Amino acid sequence: MSEPSTKICCIGAGYVGGPTMAMIAKQCPDIEVNVVDINESRIAAWNSDLLPIYEPGLDEVVKEARGRNLFFSTDVSAAIKSADMIFISVNTPTKTFGIGTGRAANLEFVEKCAREIALHADGHKIVIEKSTLPVRTAEAVKRILSSASNENATFDVLSNPEFLAEGTAVEDLLAPDRVLIGGESQEAIDRLAAVYGRWVNPENILKTNLWSSELSKLTANAFLAQRVSSINAISALCEATGADVDEVANAIGTDSRIGPKFLKSSVGFGGSCFQKDILNLVYLCEHFGLPEVAAYWEQVVLMNDYQKRRFSTAVVKTMFNTVSDKKIAIWGFAFKKDTNDTRESPAIYVCRDLLEERARLTIYDPKVSLEQVKQELVYLMTSENGTLSEKHRQLIDENVEVADSASAATTGAHAIAVLTEWDEFKDIDFHSVYSSMKKPAFLFDGRNLLDREKLSKIGFEVYATGKS
Ligand code: UDX
Ligand code: UDX
Repeated sequence: MSEPSTKICCIGAGYVGGPTMAMIAKQCPDIEVNVVDINESRIAAWNSDLLPIYEPGLDEVVKEARGRNLFFSTDVSAAIKSADMIFISVNTPTKTFGIGTGRAANLEFVEKCAREIALHADGHKIVIEKSTLPVRTAEAVKRILSSASNENATFDVLSNPEFLAEGTAVEDLLAPDRVLIGGESQEAIDRLAAVYGRWVNPENILKTNLWSSELSKLTANAFLAQRVSSINAISALCEATGADVDEVANAIGTDSRIGPKFLKSSVGFGGSCFQKDILNLVYLCEHFGLPEVAAYWEQVVLMNDYQKRRFSTAVVKTMFNTVSDKKIAIWGFAFKKDTNDTRESPAIYVCRDLLEERARLTIYDPKVSLEQVKQELVYLMTSENGTLSEKHRQLIDENVEVADSASAATTGAHAIAVLTEWDEFKDIDFHSVYSSMKKPAFLFDGRNLLDREKLSKIGFEVYATGKS
């Protein structure tokens, strides 16, 4: 295997670019890693003691490498010029305008990166797609690079999707199930493989063609999301029949062909990837004339919408068909535990539904601020019909507040809704919470996190997803 590159640039210091580059820098002290981003405040945060994203163990990784061989800056052109390998790790959100609205990925930022690389590149560069992209994007990247660059510049394009999950990014990066590298040049593939090979077993470094690599990332996320939607579909049937979804999940998960992971019924999946990637897959299938395949995958997203709506409907129905002017404590707003990320969190949808029913919400999440909550609600309520109505603005301003702790959120509340599975919710003094609430005290567990029997004994009226 040839010698690995000595200088890396990563464009995009987000949830993926930041932690991934920090891990490469930690594991390869002799490789200089420059992470660049157009967002000045984000870069300032990466250079401070308060990193822009919360990930267990990330502070230590960054501290070890930052200033040694890991650098964060806004000087994109300088980082491109000096690097041998350039990762593109900018965001690829679902399009909100034009052709493919609501489905296709917006590749504007990826194209801008390719043009920026073409503009500043001199000599040979390996350009690596780290962002999740529609299959065959590398084709466009290659064309832009070759037609827009100066004559001294040559390029190899690789696809190297990232499979880390938020909340466990550091452990996923340290011991990945696999690293996937797709490309046309064996030499370029080997050079990138050699970087990961410093700490990843070579057997876990998979090498494929470009298109397989691009498509594998979308497919992996679609399969994972499909499992969650499948168990959530069964949760509705459990509630109707008296079966218990955790028992069913356990029973099927012990079949080694099915396996136990990603079978936790919930209020719905969230995060920046699952919905976006499936919609992108759906769009691609339609584009390639495969409407049956598109419809199959779209159902995973529709089932997730159903699950979120089913939860908020259950809250309203159980509370005598009205939550108007009732205080509801919302426990958790992030899309899963151990992250401050709220993108596409099911909590946003449930809170939207409850606000439309005129509930008063007191939200507690250990990592999410009032500003972030309001931003998400404004974004959702605006994107639905293009404008934020005066009524919605008023509900967000007047009916949403945050509390300092989970128990503080419940004082005088009619109900608690558990929307994120933070561990600290398991250790609450539920006797004192119960006594501080209005009666009957309802508890809606959207994560099946809490001990239902214990809570019922205290006096709570408990609704748990997938339990009759
Ligand atoms: C990543 C992937 O890249 C995306 O394709 C995948 O589906 C999810 O994970 P993520 O790291 O979560 O995205 O995105 P985000 O946290 O929004 O970070 C992207 C960063 O790129 C932002 O900090 C943004 O400022 C930066 N950016 C964007 C640039 O530096 N230049 C641009 O032109 C556009
Ligand atoms: C996902 C993929 O797991 C990761 O490989 C990819 O790189 C990015 O997308 P992430 O979105 O960070 O990672 O988190 P993940 O753990 O997959 O959870 C996604 C959502 O599904 C969360 O809202 C989570 O709460 C939910 N979920 C997950 C369930 O509801 N039940 C489960 O059993 C598992």
